[in-house]
Amino acid sequence: MSIEQIRFHFGFSKMPFGKDLAPSTLHRHHGHQEALARISFLVAEQAIGVLTGEVGSGKTVAARAAMAQLEPSRHSVIYLSNPAIGARGIYAEIVARLGGEPRFFKSALIAQAGDLLAKEVAERGRRVVVIVDESHLLDAGQLEELRLLTNAEMDSASPFALLLLGQPSLRARLRLGSFAALDQRVTLRYALPPMSAKETSSYVSHHLALCGRSDTLFSDDALSSIHQAGRGLPRAVNNLARQALVAAYANRSAIVDEKAARQAITEMDAE
Ligand SMILES: Nc1ncnc2c1ncn2[C@@H]1O[C@H](COP(=O)(O)OP(=O)(O)O)[C@@H](O)[C@H]1O
Ligand SMILES: [Mg+2]
Repeated sequence: MSIEQIRFHFGFSKMPFGKDLAPSTLHRHHGHQEALARISFLVAEQAIGVLTGEVGSGKTVAARAAMAQLEPSRHSVIYLSNPAIGARGIYAEIVARLGGEPRFFKSALIAQAGDLLAKEVAERGRRVVVIVDESHLLDAGQLEELRLLTNAEMDSASPFALLLLGQPSLRARLRLGSFAALDQRVTLRYALPPMSAKETSSYVSHHLALCGRSDTLFSDDALSSIHQAGRGLPRAVNNLARQALVAAYANRSAIVDEKAARQAITEMDAE
């Protein structure tokens, strides 16, 4: 059994539930839209914000979609995945992303990052947005670096937005006494909720329509099983829906019924 055979069996133009969707083709469920609106506000206000959500809830997708809406000539987006920060430190990454050669000593490096950020604004007329993904993994030293960075920049005139993305534990971590100074500067917090059952159905239909199937392909009970097992989380729903298509194909069924959905759930549980 190959992807090609499954694609052909269901008449898809490409295999649905892939992860590389263009921002304009994303599904606009409530949580996604709310996250987008808040991130846009954060950028406009040059504020510090924390977006939390379960693994696969759509945090990175929402942040990327919000960045795609920004006028590119007027914004500099510095997206830091956690491994990147781990290797060189937040300041060195920011300096490198703004085209500088990171200085060796911490004090010099901090000043250098501040200068480059200020120049980005003053000389290029760009707003800077720093996004730190997987922020729940930041260690105490990295959080302290962020605090220093925001202190140095936020008190001056330099516009600079900071968005921390992370799993729900990030909120509690920031509330710990040692990070209170950073936590107090956070003006925007949003916990990205999972999709409702209705949203999961429309999410699945949306992905199918993008691949050329606008008619009913998943039965209602299959959708409700997938919603429950995937807890309304987009990544889990994608995986279950894809697996359910495979099961339906193996059953030689024209639609994804409850049986195929159950098989998918059992298989995903076994992984
Ligand atoms: N609004 C959306 N529309 C379509 N697909 C989405 C949407 N949000 C999330 N996804 C899908 O779910 C997957 C997980 O989202 P992601 O942002 O990586 O989760 P997180 O960063 O919270 O772990 C993405 O790869 C994408 O395929
Ligand atoms: Mg992510």
